[in-house]
Amino acid sequence: MQDATGAGKGSAGTILITGAAGFIGFHLAQAMLAQGWRVVGIDNHNSYYDPALKAAREARLTPDPRYRPVRGGIEEPGLLARIFAEERPGAVVHLAAQAGVRHSIDNPRAYVQANLIGTFELLEAARACPPRHMLLASTSSAYGANTEMPYRETDKADSQMSFYAATKKSTEAMAHSYAHLFALPITVFRFFTVYGPWGRPDMAPYLFTSAILEGRPIRVFNHGDMKRDFTFVTDLVRAIGLLVGAVPGTDPAGEFDSLSPVAPFRVVNIGNGAPVQLMDFIAAIETATGRRADRQMLPMQPGDVPATWADTTLLRALSGYAPQTNLQDGVAAYVDWFRSFYGTD
Ligand SMILES: NC(=O)c1ccc[n+]([C@@H]2O[C@H](COP(=O)([O-])OP(=O)(O)OC[C@H]3O[C@@H](n4cnc5c(N)ncnc54)[C@H](O)[C@@H]3O)[C@@H](O)[C@H]2O)c1
Repeated sequence: MQDATGAGKGSAGTILITGAAGFIGFHLAQAMLAQGWRVVGIDNHNSYYDPALKAAREARLTPDPRYRPVRGGIEEPGLLARIFAEERPGAVVHLAAQAGVRHSIDNPRAYVQANLIGTFELLEAARACPPRHMLLASTSSAYGANTEMPYRETDKADSQMSFYAATKKSTEAMAHSYAHLFALPITVFRFFTVYGPWGRPDMAPYLFTSAILEGRPIRVFNHGDMKRDFTFVTDLVRAIGLLVGAVPGTDPAGEFDSLSPVAPFRVVNIGNGAPVQLMDFIAAIETATGRRADRQMLPMQPGDVPATWADTTLLRALSGYAPQTNLQDGVAAYVDWFRSFYGTD
């Protein structure tokens, strides 16, 4: 079995994924198993949203004997250190987090616990048992109040608008210091609104689709004047898989590279590179469901930004690939999954 990171130390072919029962983690675990990796997946199955969805995702992974599920919180002292020592993973993809912009306004402590303390425990475990490459999920929300579009990884990003974004930006800084101090190669991804089958029930595709199918009104914030660089999950995990092999080192990918001047560390956007108007997203769900939405127009929500748009130049340079699923196909795949999973017509 081949380790795409070319791991010299550690058991080649083992990848550790935190948050593996989550939306993106589940898709990534499936993709890495299909590529011949052994996958260790950690998740605490917390109740931020229905744990039954997390269990259903995990149930699709566990029949594969190369998948090892570990149930626990990443912030628990000693848990990650023990798993790293047992497994010596060649690559680590860190997705476990308390996500959600709005929830962070009322429940900031959960973000300190999972995002700050959890990421700290992960970095400490990696310091003791260094993988060849560690990859961490951050967010387009890290660009905060920036107005220049598309967002570039080398842009200054110091004006986060939500506590969620603030914790994610903090994890980027924490990771940089470990990359520098302990020569740990680290890539930070900034994901742009990911959607697709098995998606999160707290995100717009679920909220809109469930309301439209049940005949309830949908809530449209900022009176519909929003743009998001929606990224289809299959595209996203393909990009992650390619970046696992793009270990940051001394060989920069060009003048636009965000490679640190002192550490094997870089930030990479993973987005579609083509922002979509929220009203067009709603129209695509209407087409896929064959129903009209009853739109309830509302003002902007605190913590939100009106637009996101990824510059994908660096992603293309590093991986030769960037997401490309068009909105109609992506939304149709999501609605098909929604109907079969939730048994709605
Ligand atoms: N989905 C998006 O659009 C999006 C956009 C930007 C960034 N991200 C980031 O990508 C990552 C994955 O997001 P997702 O959409 O799959 O979210 P998700 O909530 O579906 O997945 C996260 C998983 O981590 C687990 N988890 C949370 N806290 C944990 C802890 N303390 N210990 C162990 N497990 C824990 C949860 O149970 C969940 O299964 C997150 O870091 C998120 O911040 C997602």
